[in-house]
Amino acid sequence: MSLIFVIVLVVVLLLIASLSGSIGDLYHSLRKQHEDGSAEKEEKALDWAKTLSNTARAFIILLIPLAFYFVLKDTIYMGHYQEWLNMIVRWFHITIGIAWIGASFYFVFLENSLNRTKGLRDELAGNLWAVHGGGFYYVEKYKIAPKVIPRELHWFKYEAYFTWISGITLLFIVYYFQAESMLVDKTVLDIHPYLAITIGLVSLFAGWVIYDLMSRTPLLKKPMWFGIVGFIILMCFAYFYTCVFSARAAYIHFGALIGTMMVGNVFFVIIPAQKAMVKAATEGGHLDPWLGKHAGLRSYHNNYFTLPVLFVMISNHFPSTFGYEQPWFILGLITLGSAGVKHYLNLNEKGEKSVWVMPISVAILCGAAFISAPENPTGSCEDEVAFSAVYNIINTRCTQCHSSSPTDLTYTSPPNGVKYDTAEEIKVMSEKIMQRVVITKTMPQNNITGMLPEERELIRCWIEQGSNIDAGVVAPVTPVTSSFKHEH
Ligand code: HEC
Repeated sequence: MSLIFVIVLVVVLLLIASLSGSIGDLYHSLRKQHEDGSAEKEEKALDWAKTLSNTARAFIILLIPLAFYFVLKDTIYMGHYQEWLNMIVRWFHITIGIAWIGASFYFVFLENSLNRTKGLRDELAGNLWAVHGGGFYYVEKYKIAPKVIPRELHWFKYEAYFTWISGITLLFIVYYFQAESMLVDKTVLDIHPYLAITIGLVSLFAGWVIYDLMSRTPLLKKPMWFGIVGFIILMCFAYFYTCVFSARAAYIHFGALIGTMMVGNVFFVIIPAQKAMVKAATEGGHLDPWLGKHAGLRSYHNNYFTLPVLFVMISNHFPSTFGYEQPWFILGLITLGSAGVKHYLNLNEKGEKSVWVMPISVAILCGAAFISAPENPTGSCEDEVAFSAVYNIINTRCTQCHSSSPTDLTYTSPPNGVKYDTAEEIKVMSEKIMQRVVITKTMPQNNITGMLPEERELIRCWIEQGSNIDAGVVAPVTPVTSSFKHEH
């Protein structure tokens, strides 16, 4: 059923992601080899052999978890397995992502901080001295290319590719494998999980195509207008996502959309341009100077995307952002404000004075905090609420997940370690329950257990009255357990 569908999608996606590069290389080197069999061409053949073997290796690594999925399917270990898979892929994703964004920040810093005037050789665009980790470093940037391209040339591309591949894998692990609870929110739009997954994936490619086409119009040379139009288009996507997905999934898709554009820039524009530059430098052919400039502009776009994308990646921990009734609006403000902060940093590195950029950006971010602030819950709580009533609500709406042995199919251990098996456990969590159930209404997750507004009101009153667990009749506190867990 859903599994087959998901696996086919995974395989297609991985195929596209990992093979497209090597197919191109393969084709070129085969043709070259055919034309003449010199030593240099043999090296090229070795190159593609390496790419191919790396791709094969990556495939095998990805097939292993898939095989486990089959083996553990419908066993009690599935949830545990998914949690570990989630953790490992996430770990990898942030590590490689840090390497990518770190390098990106470093090179933008270099570009902004180069000495471009004092004591430069003719062929140089600039240089920079730095001290780091107990050593002195000296970097030179060439105007075009050195006379001889060195054999050892670092490319910085796999960081981007692997960040994307691991990110898409996470999207599957966290959102698509559990599309019914994580991706679809029936109160937003009641669509079939497959349809939701398809919309998600297609939107990522559509976003890239729109952005790429836009970058091939004259608009590219007008940064301000490009920024304005680009932002409006991004907001359309954000709005669209919040109309079809759960708020959390909408946020993560917005991040994945921008991330895909960033990796697309690296894969389809920046790296090909660099390859052409190296080729022209080694073979002495004509080089269109626009290639390098275009790549530079795309790289600059990526630089502005970084802070918004990083926000989205941590946003899932902050329900006041995606829990706001118009989640796309908060997303828009934070995107705008954080890109503004990046703009300020860029200007600062270049030594340009900017009076307004930072205050306006901060004002926008404060605006987001202000708008999303909770409203004071109204309605008076006259009668004292009996704890048994609260306990019953928690038991029907929450312990499916928040219990030492959850009955939920996705969460086989209590999420964030939060469980409500005993009265005390409920009492000590009252502050957080108030936040998530009453104020942001982000629990139960996507309201999967169908909590009613009256029930939220009752819980609010109970907490406002002091979370008294002796109030009224206390129901016998027995944890709800799933039958198969017990057998085990
Ligand atoms: C479908 C499973 C599910 C149900 C049902 C559910 N939760 Fe949660 N809950 C989660 C998950 C997953 C997390 C962790 C992710 C997050 O914070 O959004 C969580 C986190 C929380 C947190 C935050 C804990 C922390 O460490 O910050 C609170 C509080 C909470 N839930 C309360 C509730 C209450 C109260 C109910 C019932 C009204 C409820 N949940 C129902 C899955 C669920």
